[in-house]
Amino acid sequence: MLHGRRILLVIAGGIAAYKSLELIRRLRERGATVRCVMTAAAQRFITPLAAQTLSGDRVYSDLFSLTDENEMGHLRLSQEADLIVVAPATADLIAKLAAGLADDLASTVLIASNKPILLAPAMNTRMWANPATQSNLAVLEKRGVTRIGPESGPLAEAESGLGRMAEPTTIADAVEAHFVAYALLRGRKALVTSGPTEEAIDPVRYIANRSSGKQGHAIAAAIARLGADTVLVSGPTREADPPGVRVVHVRSAREMLSVCEAQLPVDVAVCAAAVADWRVDVAPQKLKKKGAPPTLTLVENPDILATLAHAANRRPRLVVGFAAETENLIAAARAKRAAKGADWILANDVSAASGVFGSDSNDIHLIDERGTESWGRLSKRDVGDRLAARIAQFFDRKAAE
Ligand code: PMT
Repeated sequence: MLHGRRILLVIAGGIAAYKSLELIRRLRERGATVRCVMTAAAQRFITPLAAQTLSGDRVYSDLFSLTDENEMGHLRLSQEADLIVVAPATADLIAKLAAGLADDLASTVLIASNKPILLAPAMNTRMWANPATQSNLAVLEKRGVTRIGPESGPLAEAESGLGRMAEPTTIADAVEAHFVAYALLRGRKALVTSGPTEEAIDPVRYIANRSSGKQGHAIAAAIARLGADTVLVSGPTREADPPGVRVVHVRSAREMLSVCEAQLPVDVAVCAAAVADWRVDVAPQKLKKKGAPPTLTLVENPDILATLAHAANRRPRLVVGFAAETENLIAAARAKRAAKGADWILANDVSAASGVFGSDSNDIHLIDERGTESWGRLSKRDVGDRLAARIAQFFDRKAAE
């Protein structure tokens, strides 16, 4: 059931908009409150009055209407929702969301929001198959946007194929499934580190490493999807901030440590960042290219994982680290677990041949006090989901003890 859940339903302009009216009914029958945003094109297919009558709330459509902005600014529209459902999600609105365009109320609400987004695409088969649509969806999936459908069957214009919007009951089931998952870690606080750190050599140069942040960001997104209040402390990356996650951007290992310590107490900490083991004794001025090449003096950085694992009365209930190894993977990871005091270590082979750094997949071996569990090659998103589910199971078992 959806009692107390607040859904913001964005209706875009496609013939499937007529099914959105039934979706409003299905969601309300299950106890949700539904507020609607309609694009101009959607209003060609169904009237705002119909959506307003069924939702029992006024319908928002105009970004530039003073009344809309005064009564309910676009930020408040998403702030006051637990989930944003876009149904139908047209190729056009999907493209706008992927590109970050904000030229009407619907697209502005979507990009100004940090709430979870569920898309129910609906379009002609060829629009669906178009590489642009598929690459836009891949971008959105990486950012944590979820999708239900489309389905195969008769379409408008007497055609048939993949592109039909999922049935309203199926979408309502997906909304319920979202909230069931969302309850698994609700009330828990999670801290995740991600990306590389940059260690300054002089005011213009630094040393760093090949971490892209993909794995750490995917973990933070997955934990947040299960409802945990999640803070992601990220070194410099090109990854977008995951939805529903508070992100603190840092550069150096020492900055990362101080931000992490400020988040304590947390229930679970996952250290996925590739933190530089050493920093450079920084030169106050730019090093000049003259004479012999300079010698860089390295100083050991603090170990964030070990610090969190030994945080006495503020130690997270569950401390998870990674081991990035290029040889003797399991033995080295076991030794790291013991040396750093982590509960779980996710061992991954980062040799050049494994292609883990920067890629979209990983090959994880989870090491805990009972032994080793090998997950095989998975997408980094799936690694995040699997770890988040494992963390939920851990707290479930603890609660039952
Ligand atoms: O970012 P991607 O391109 O997606 O790649 C993912 C990844 C390979 C970076 C990730 O899966 C991974 O292995 N992260 C840990 C990288 C690392 O620094 O491993 P390590 O074996 O050197 O360190 C062991 C653990 O100690 C890690 O949890 C690390 O975060 C932590 N550590 C290390 C040094 C330090 N000063 N402080 C730390 O907290």
